Amino acid sequence: MRLARLMKVFVTRRIPPEGRAALAQAADCEVEEWDSDEPIPRKELERQVVGAHGLLCLLSDQVDKKLLDVAGANLRVISTLSVGVDHLALDEIKKRGIRVGYTPDVLTDTTAELAVSLLLTTCRRLPEAIEEVKNGGWTTWKPLWMCGYGLTQSTVGIVGLGRIGQAIARRLKPFGVQRFLYSGRQPKPQEAAEFQAEFVSVPQLAAESDFIVVACSLTPATKGLCNEDFFQKMKKTAVFVNISRGDVVNQDALYRALASGQIAAAGLDVTTPEPLPTNHPLLTLKNCVVLPHIGSATYRTRNTMSLLAANNLLAGLRGEPMPSELKL
Ligand code: NDP
Ligand code: DGY
Repeated sequence: MRLARLMKVFVTRRIPPEGRAALAQAADCEVEEWDSDEPIPRKELERQVVGAHGLLCLLSDQVDKKLLDVAGANLRVISTLSVGVDHLALDEIKKRGIRVGYTPDVLTDTTAELAVSLLLTTCRRLPEAIEEVKNGGWTTWKPLWMCGYGLTQSTVGIVGLGRIGQAIARRLKPFGVQRFLYSGRQPKPQEAAEFQAEFVSVPQLAAESDFIVVACSLTPATKGLCNEDFFQKMKKTAVFVNISRGDVVNQDALYRALASGQIAAAGLDVTTPEPLPTNHPLLTLKNCVVLPHIGSATYRTRNTMSLLAANNLLAGLRGEPMPSELKL
């Protein structure tokens, strides 16, 4: 009897238990992992990926031409533990006929929940208020002290009314939002109908919104979309939230807009770079709330993502339909 050769799989980080268990049970694969919560050094990644048939990676791993070259011709499937795919050199991957798995849908609600939390935290100045209680700044009840901005009767602009953008709008609607605007590549009347959302240009969205939530994917077209011009168009009382990717925003322009009072406040779950250096100017501002990219961070969601990523990888290696394959 001839034994089938095992397929080599490399996993770039210790992933949550459900995904790990699914990979461990795959009798047709030989699975190696970077058994750490910290990122694999690039040199080590380049060493480990050689000859791999499957790669399970994270959004912090740059899968570029060099890595694909080093991996070699065996590589058939890349499965990322994320819905965002901006860390993958998709053109190169497509050229090589490599299949890509990703994790849409399973993190939509969790990420929308975080986006709403960040928006409320930012517009009602919660970190500042908590600090004032601790540092003695809370002297008495004062009519205009610690005032912020509320959602009731507001206009909310969503950049990218995709899965997460819609889930954010769905959660914000019951707060009494009066008008939803959205921007994207083209109008999406069916999706927008639920919120009576109006399709507008990015400059119009910037100018007319009281709250702006960025929920688009990072592409060459969205890189630096929120720039000096964008912030200058915004109302002085408006609040900006980004849960997509740091590179959608020109952070120097955002800093200037926040520091000069051009806009009221910003809440960021994503930055460039990640982690944001602790001496970064944005962290000196009271009107800027920065979170460490925790949009999808609930135990359940991360476990579900890991299982989906493992199943994508295994299905791809076996030549079967993947539960979530990115169309290239
Ligand atoms: P979708 O593909 O459903 O949505 C992406 C949206 O981006 C679409 O609405 C699309 O618009 C929009 N978009 C694409 N190009 C442009 C453009 N040029 N201008 C404006 N909008 C554009 O993805 P998801 O909603 O599932 O995820 C969106 C992103 O959120 C991910 O790519 C990821 O980067 C980020 N994310 C962040 C998380 C976090 O932890 N902070 C967690 C999960 C995701 P159109 O409708 O016209 O195609
Ligand atoms: C993604 O999936 O793209 C997020 O950024 C992390 O869940």
